[in-house]
Amino acid sequence: MYFEPTSFKLKDGREAEITDIKPEYREDMINNYFSYFDEVEKGESAYGSDIGILLSYTKESYEDEVEWFNKKLKKVESDEQIARVAIVDGHPVGLIDIRKGGLGRKHIGELGIAIRKDYRGLGVGKALMEDALRLAKGWVKIATLALFEGNKSAYTLYKKLGFEEYGRLEDAMELRNKSLTEILMFKKL
Ligand SMILES: CC(C)(COP(=O)(O)OP(=O)(O)OC[C@H]1O[C@@H](n2cnc3c(N)ncnc32)[C@H](O)[C@@H]1OP(=O)(O)O)[C@@H](O)C(=O)NCCC(=O)NCCS
Repeated sequence: MYFEPTSFKLKDGREAEITDIKPEYREDMINNYFSYFDEVEKGESAYGSDIGILLSYTKESYEDEVEWFNKKLKKVESDEQIARVAIVDGHPVGLIDIRKGGLGRKHIGELGIAIRKDYRGLGVGKALMEDALRLAKGWVKIATLALFEGNKSAYTLYKKLGFEEYGRLEDAMELRNKSLTEILMFKKL
């Protein structure tokens, strides 16, 4: 599924654009993904606080990530996903995707989002969410997402955009010696 680009302004006044993922963004997007590992490794972030995405214990290889990216492009092409990136200063700095469910769940889209550390708190997450939710209207009926308790910025953002909690599971995950509570949220589109 492909869509028109849209533009928006960061809180610091810079111009930014939101567009579909494209082959030419591959290297930057893989580097963005690897930067989340660096945050965790440097102890700058911890699961359950401001790094809310699931990372494997060891960094995947560049080749694995190329495969991930190419699969993603195909899923967008075959209407299984909406995947949009925010472009600032000519580079993608954040990704949002909405993945259509499988059998019996094709009316449900599971949302995932991550912004590169240096670009958080500037309105990129909100702009990506608003853009993707607008595009997903009519494509799926319900948007769902999961986050870890303690991810304050994500929780605040989702509540602000009308997501409601439908479940909470303590000790849903044990990662890097930390027990995490998972919060499930939904929004009817
Ligand atoms: C969660 C995340 C996507 C938010 O994106 P962002 O670009 O930093 O958020 P924005 O600047 O658009 O802020 C959106 C809203 O979130 C809230 N927010 C942002 N940063 C916040 C913070 N540090 N503390 C509390 N609330 C915060 C604000 O209410 C803000 O709304 P406002 O602009 O009207 O004040 C981003 O921080 C991120 O990628 N984090 C790491 C990965 C992750 O946790 N992904 C979510 C997994 S479920």
